[in-house]
Amino acid sequence: MSDAPAPAPSDLFDKVVNLCKRRGFVFPSAEIYGGFRSTYDYGPVGVLLLRNVKDAWWRSMVQLRHDVVGLDAAILSPPAIWEASGHLKNFTDPLVDCKVCHERFRLDKLDDPDVCPKCGSKHSFTEARQFNLMFKTYAGPIEGAGAEVYLRPETAQGMFTNFKNVLETSRKRPPFGIAQIGKSFRNEITPGNFVFRTREFEQMEMEYFVPPDESPRWYEYWCAQRLAWYHDLGIPERMLRLRAHDEDELSHYSVGTSDVEFLFPWGWDELEGIANRTDYDLRQHAAHSGERLEYFDQAAGERYVPHVIEPAAGATRTAMAFLMAAYEEEEVAREGQGQGDVRTVLRFHPRIAPYKVAVLPLSKKPELSGPAGEVLAQLQPHYMCDYDETQAIGRRYRRQDELGTPFCVTIDFDTLDDHAVTVRDRDTMAQDRVPIAGLLDHLRPRLEI
Ligand code: GAP
Repeated sequence: MSDAPAPAPSDLFDKVVNLCKRRGFVFPSAEIYGGFRSTYDYGPVGVLLLRNVKDAWWRSMVQLRHDVVGLDAAILSPPAIWEASGHLKNFTDPLVDCKVCHERFRLDKLDDPDVCPKCGSKHSFTEARQFNLMFKTYAGPIEGAGAEVYLRPETAQGMFTNFKNVLETSRKRPPFGIAQIGKSFRNEITPGNFVFRTREFEQMEMEYFVPPDESPRWYEYWCAQRLAWYHDLGIPERMLRLRAHDEDELSHYSVGTSDVEFLFPWGWDELEGIANRTDYDLRQHAAHSGERLEYFDQAAGERYVPHVIEPAAGATRTAMAFLMAAYEEEEVAREGQGQGDVRTVLRFHPRIAPYKVAVLPLSKKPELSGPAGEVLAQLQPHYMCDYDETQAIGRRYRRQDELGTPFCVTIDFDTLDDHAVTVRDRDTMAQDRVPIAGLLDHLRPRLEI
């Protein structure tokens, strides 16, 4: 991403939301029925973006490490899990209603707890009620006591309930981690800010089990690692910070949490929390299930309950941050048949970009479709490609800029003689003539960074 001035924060939000709809990143869910309460569907381009965010996380947290293994646990879960974890009792937000305009708010998110932000009334709130955020449903044909199940509000508990299974099957020993990516559900009182806070979202979480006396060191380690991950994938330093929670902000299981925060258009807000969960969860599940959830260190001849450091990120929220950080508008000269003026470009890191390459035959004529098809067939096994053969080439470049595609490959009539193509760089708009036979070698070092 360049250092060009970004659009004003107030505009940036609307611009990104509009682009998401216009270019197929994110659609309001059930739109043909008028939309459905802050739920969203990821379109043809958004699904690639989200997948790339998750793949980049998995690569960094699992693939490139020898001490972390993966898991994919069930979403439906029995009340016993949430009883033990403390979520049935503690996973609540304070809810207030304005007696004048009847709007509902989370008390802890109000700027002034005495003033209604919607109608401006003073002292118009009801007494705060603790509202449990978990979604409850029923398993089987009979609704009622005994059939109740919950949709998980965090993926984390699957890692704790499988601690023994993983320890016995993976030959890992502390310090080691279990990582999971998947959907979580929270009945948020005030969803909003597009996909920032939704009732259905995806998390990327890792529980790192360590000897108790090593937990401070690993907490620092994971705070630094996780901050670096966002930065390495192109989010500028000025838009990232680490913020330690005050005592009164801590979750019921945490003795220390730091958030990786991103500078959203409305200010600093959370992308990820890194928490020191101590041995709270393993001890709770051991007590409630009767299973021994501990590690026997043969060398030292001692048995202990590992402590847990947990980096917990939101995949959907992070995808939104990558969109906001990548968005730029810049004055450009005329390019191809396109108009010179302001171009919108998403300067995604290549690993995050939905499409890596767009293959663009200059015309739809059959002489060009043949070589264009060959180029596409050469690239597709390696990279997600878009293929577009209609409209003036300048307009097609602009479209790819708005999708954040790092490279466009144009097949023109000279290609028939020189067996070469034009490779256009999204960021510099520079064009190189590259032999088709050397195309992969040209792109690989530029995309696989
Ligand atoms: N296991 C710990 C845990 O769930 P959290 O801070 O509640 O911690 C972790 O959630 C991350 O999940 C958050 O930093 C955020 O990125 C994402 N997240 C949480 N609630 C969300 C929501 N309603 N919508 C979108 N993302 C959410």
